[in-house]
Amino acid sequence: MRFLKKYFVANWKMNKNLSESLDFLIKLNLIDSKQNIWIAPAFCNIVPIKERFPKLMIGAQNVAYKSHGAYTGEVSAEMLCDIGVDFCIVGHSERRGYFHETDEEIGHKLALIVEAEMVPVLCVGETFEQREKGLTHHILDRQLNLALELVKKKSFDLFIAYEPVWAIGSSKPATKEIVENVLKEIQQKVLSIVPRVNLKLLYGGSVTLDNIDEYLSTDCVDGVLVGGASLELKTFQNFIK
Ligand code: PGA
Repeated sequence: MRFLKKYFVANWKMNKNLSESLDFLIKLNLIDSKQNIWIAPAFCNIVPIKERFPKLMIGAQNVAYKSHGAYTGEVSAEMLCDIGVDFCIVGHSERRGYFHETDEEIGHKLALIVEAEMVPVLCVGETFEQREKGLTHHILDRQLNLALELVKKKSFDLFIAYEPVWAIGSSKPATKEIVENVLKEIQQKVLSIVPRVNLKLLYGGSVTLDNIDEYLSTDCVDGVLVGGASLELKTFQNFIK
């Protein structure tokens, strides 16, 4: 176990029904693991998974940007907290892209997650075009400023995942050098906006068995946010060895 106590956050996205989820977690045999394993399954499977694995860190992949009311189909932060959700992913590029979530909405969501005392896992990152045009710094600045606008004075646990959009599900992971440089920049920026947070930094985007060690051996990387490779039992078992 070379990288003790790193964070392995699995974003299952819209995959795995209930029996597949339970079967995966039973076989994963979490009792023996000394790593921090966090799982974000589909909304509808959160409660039965939590019942079967009460000590597992369970997350939601999304939350409403309003606290309550006439928002058909939405689930509030308070509702998630009430059923035992520990953390919530916010600002994922698939939400920003497919569901047109704005930086302002993401800021509202993050504030509600913090208010409900769950841990926000905020995803930030630039597109390929933005990187090519030299806009990475500007984009990250804007995403972080607006996401953290409403919680500036608070003290809470905050996870930030640098997920360049061009690296997600693309088999084109960011190099260790890019990850290192960007995470250092993110760290400085975040601590200047919210100085009282307990900050952890993740990398996400085509993390596989071939590249995970490179990221985890980087000082500023506290862990990884994994999509595709977290669905494969054998791969995930090898990640957390
Ligand atoms: P990927 O997804 O590991 O499949 O690239 C990462 C993510 O979307 O969080």
